[in-house]
Amino acid sequence: MHICRLNNLLLCIFMILPMTLLTQHNTDESLVPEYDLPALLTDSHGKQISEATTWEEHRRSEILSIFEQEVYGIPPLEEIAVEVSEKVLERMAFHGKATIREITFTFTNNGKRLDAVLLLVLPNSPDPAAVFLGYNFGGNHTILPDESIQLPKGWVLGGPQIGAFDHKASVVSRGAKYSRWPVLNMLARGYGLATMHYGDIDPDFDDDFKNGIHALFSNSEHIKNGNWGALATWSWGLSKIMDYFETNPLINHEKITLLGHSRLGKAALWAGALDKRFAIVISNNSGCGGAALSKRRFGETVAAINKNFPHWFCKNFEKYNENESAMPFDQHQLLALMAPRPLYIASAQNDSWADPKGEFLSLKHASAVYALYHPNSTISGELPEVNRPLIQGKLGYHIRTGNHDVTPYDWEQFMNFTDQHFANGN
Ligand code: GCU
Repeated sequence: MHICRLNNLLLCIFMILPMTLLTQHNTDESLVPEYDLPALLTDSHGKQISEATTWEEHRRSEILSIFEQEVYGIPPLEEIAVEVSEKVLERMAFHGKATIREITFTFTNNGKRLDAVLLLVLPNSPDPAAVFLGYNFGGNHTILPDESIQLPKGWVLGGPQIGAFDHKASVVSRGAKYSRWPVLNMLARGYGLATMHYGDIDPDFDDDFKNGIHALFSNSEHIKNGNWGALATWSWGLSKIMDYFETNPLINHEKITLLGHSRLGKAALWAGALDKRFAIVISNNSGCGGAALSKRRFGETVAAINKNFPHWFCKNFEKYNENESAMPFDQHQLLALMAPRPLYIASAQNDSWADPKGEFLSLKHASAVYALYHPNSTISGELPEVNRPLIQGKLGYHIRTGNHDVTPYDWEQFMNFTDQHFANGN
């Protein structure tokens, strides 16, 4: 078997392992419990919201603070120093079409330092580029085979099966994830790509909130008490990248499409909710704690995710283990926080762990907020057929055949959606 295919297969097994460790998870639609979704358009005093301005000035912040308090955690107030240095790796990459750079972000605070490296591929064009921004799982070197791309120096996910030994990256995986990042197609449509290894911001294991960016806030009781989970740190990192985009004249910072797959889709959604500078937000197979409704208890549940990944959320989220009915919120409210910006949710047919139907219903309910801005963004139908993308105003959704992954099919839809909205002035 070709090494990349073997890697992909083993990576899939690794990614879904937590699910197999849990014996009791429901994937039978007839066993989904009755549930009431918390209202989107009624505020905490029972007042009905019927206008975009009241949503924006009042209800939106109520919902945002529920997610901060109960799910992802409150960001630290302390500002830390960031220095950025740029290095050109190749000016004539892809037969002269693009320049590849590495941008190193150096964060310092309390005598501690953290370096995080962004891989930036920009079309060689006089116009500032619209850019897709997303974290990668294995390291920037997994995106392209180019030998000048540095390997992550710190922790990486996985094991020998993805070319990472003892959680250290190795050259074996150079270019192995190109299928998840079709850079040539992006360049052909005029887009750039910016990607960073997520572990550069916060290594993805439970260490009691001491490593990664957490370490730079070690004086903060708030952080020490686990009130800023890893998903929130990854979101924070995305906003720091956006700060940099605003300073780079080669980038059109008003045309940044933020996307993420799986846990990184959860982080992308939370970043998109907190930071309105992201023009378009795309979630791919983000599931529980991402796009999927938790109250359906289909696939991964709140208890399962907190058990397997105790460092992802804030401590309050544990209150809802086996207790989703007590949640005063659900993920449709998170999706509504993107409004009125274009939002695309993608599911995969075999990805029952991420609850494709729950992802769709979440978007459908969130569309009530979009409708305050654009009546044509209302989604009213049932789950679309597989491989039939649904585009409804500012909202997009597809469920494709296949497994938990990001595929060329997904990218084709993401680029079509982005083309359409940027051409229309978004
Ligand atoms: C696990 C986890 C999911 C997550 C996924 C991933 O399966 O349970 O919540 O989305 O890993 O990030 O690949």
